[in-house]
Amino acid sequence: MLRSVAIAALLGAASAAAATTCSLTNKCPEDAPCCSQYGECGVGAYCLGGCDPRMSFSLDACTPAPVCKSKTMTFDKDLSSIADISDYLGDPSTADWMAQGEPAYFDGNVLLTMPKNSVGTVLATTEYMWYGNVKAKFKTSRGRGVVTAFILLSDVKDEIDYEFVGVDLGTAQTNWYFQGIPDYNNSGNITKLSDTFNNYHTYEINWTPDQIQWLVDGQVGRTVNRKDHWNATSNQWSFPQTPARVQISIWPGGLASNAQGTIDWAGGEIDWNAEDIQKNGYFYATFESVEVSCYKATGELGSSSGVSYTYDNIRATNDTVVNGNKRTNLATLEGTGLDMDAGKQDSSSSSASPSGTASKSASKPKNTQASIPGGSNGSSGTVPGGDNSGDNGSSGGSSGGSSGGSSGGSSGGSDGSSGGSAPADTSGCSTSSFNQDCGSSSDSSGSKSGNKSAGSKTGVSVLAVGLAGAALCLI
Ligand SMILES: *[C@@H]1O[C@H](CO)[C@@H](O)[C@H](O)[C@H]1NC(C)=O
Ligand SMILES: *[C@@H]1O[C@H](CO)[C@@H](O)[C@H](O)[C@H]1NC(C)=O
Ligand SMILES: *[C@@H]1O[C@H](CO)[C@@H](O)[C@H](O)[C@H]1NC(C)=O
Ligand SMILES: *[C@@H]1O[C@H](CO)[C@@H](O)[C@H](O)[C@H]1NC(C)=O
Ligand SMILES: *[C@@H]1O[C@H](CO)[C@@H](O)[C@H](O)[C@H]1NC(C)=O
Ligand SMILES: *[C@@H]1O[C@H](CO)[C@@H](O)[C@H](O)[C@H]1NC(C)=O
Ligand SMILES: *[C@@H]1O[C@H](CO)[C@@H](O)[C@H](O)[C@H]1NC(C)=O
Repeated sequence: MLRSVAIAALLGAASAAAATTCSLTNKCPEDAPCCSQYGECGVGAYCLGGCDPRMSFSLDACTPAPVCKSKTMTFDKDLSSIADISDYLGDPSTADWMAQGEPAYFDGNVLLTMPKNSVGTVLATTEYMWYGNVKAKFKTSRGRGVVTAFILLSDVKDEIDYEFVGVDLGTAQTNWYFQGIPDYNNSGNITKLSDTFNNYHTYEINWTPDQIQWLVDGQVGRTVNRKDHWNATSNQWSFPQTPARVQISIWPGGLASNAQGTIDWAGGEIDWNAEDIQKNGYFYATFESVEVSCYKATGELGSSSGVSYTYDNIRATNDTVVNGNKRTNLATLEGTGLDMDAGKQDSSSSSASPSGTASKSASKPKNTQASIPGGSNGSSGTVPGGDNSGDNGSSGGSSGGSSGGSSGGSSGGSDGSSGGSAPADTSGCSTSSFNQDCGSSSDSSGSKSGNKSAGSKTGVSVLAVGLAGAALCLI
């Protein structure tokens, strides 16, 4: 199955609130012009990372994507490099990552957590790589149905993956897609790794216009060449070729409501009473660092000289990517690529975002369009952490979550053996809640999940430090 499908499925019922969905043949309407990574229309965060220009109202409905910057990203104790999706407006100088779910700090690492009955956590870089090299040093999660992923995913769904299922701690599964077209022959395994839960390994993706290599601890484990993937039907290369965000995540492939093929691929249904849940309160993957090296372009292809990437044609192949100087940030979460300053106030209160992050008081959308993908609209609630004063719209703090978690992973099913079936069913959990029981969360996630943080990283890290500490002692 492909990631986008799976994600949408996990979101499924939760965003039931009848958000407008979008696809190649069913683009978003003008008043909610942006098609999110999860296939729903909205404004604000829907127009930022993951917005698919091909499925949006027009090619320029999505905000321009920040260009590649080579850097090594580590995690400080405040997780200050991570912005919650409800607080991020598109200026990459304000954050390395945007998060949905519950990232937690522990001992120089970020833990991506998946509390009981949640859909996990995903972090996506705020900048895009157009070819290049990315290395991540991490320890995977473990357990039946629990999946850790480290992937590159472009807005038009070119995708290069590492995925780890928690019942096989000796194998890194790899996969790739061109524009989200399912091809179940693309997966491959790198085997005989030493226990990926207990040991750090460095997983690396080296991506050029001609080749993808997956390396573990510096050893090439798999190579795919573009020349082997000419598609004579579409008359183009079926090969990832567009600017992509790095995404790291933990997600529930073994959610009982997923398709059987996905559950089987993930090693079975998740045991929500497993050791990690009992000891720590969540399943977790431990990320120490992520290092991005931009492609050393000699011409236009793969360049990162400007400010942003946009597309000038719906084909969305490498020759349609424009590396230009368009601005990337919205003034408020009411904005879209068509009106970047929507919602901006004249008064000083709107200065709100000098830092590029959303000010809760100033950035609440006044309209009714959903602004946090995965959270649907108003119904998804209040701002976690107590700022309930507001409107329904921007509050997504908690709501943001669900989609994130799922997003990380969906592609899991894609593995050939799984039958490639997408989890056609929807998750029973509200997309808007990461840490509530599914049953109780279906409508307003906000207040209940709020304390624990669902997306409010401060809350999370406090909680997590305690929990992770406990975890370490026990292990
Ligand atoms: C996958 O491989 C099988 C067997 O080798 C082949 O029949 C099938 O056409 C391939 N699928 C695609 C999409 O290339
Ligand atoms: C990869 O390994 C998994 C077991 O971890 C197995 O189910 C799957 O069939 C393997 N895939 C390939 C392409 O060998
Ligand atoms: C080739 O392109 C056609 C038309 O876009 C598509 O249906 C098919 O799945 C592609 N094949 C592969 C192997 O990507
Ligand atoms: C696009 O990338 C392919 C390799 O994937 C390359 O052959 C082709 O020249 C590129 N197109 C442009 C316009 O650079
Ligand atoms: C928001 O959700 C409610 C249901 O909760 C729905 O009736 C309404 O149409 C939605 N609004 C938008 C703009 O999607
Ligand atoms: C939030 O939405 C609910 C219905 O979804 C509505 O009753 C309530 O008035 C809204 N609150 C604000 C502040 O807009
Ligand atoms: C959540 O926070 C509110 C105040 O913000 C507090 O009244 C409530 O007891 C908290 N709930 C939990 C479960 O901690």
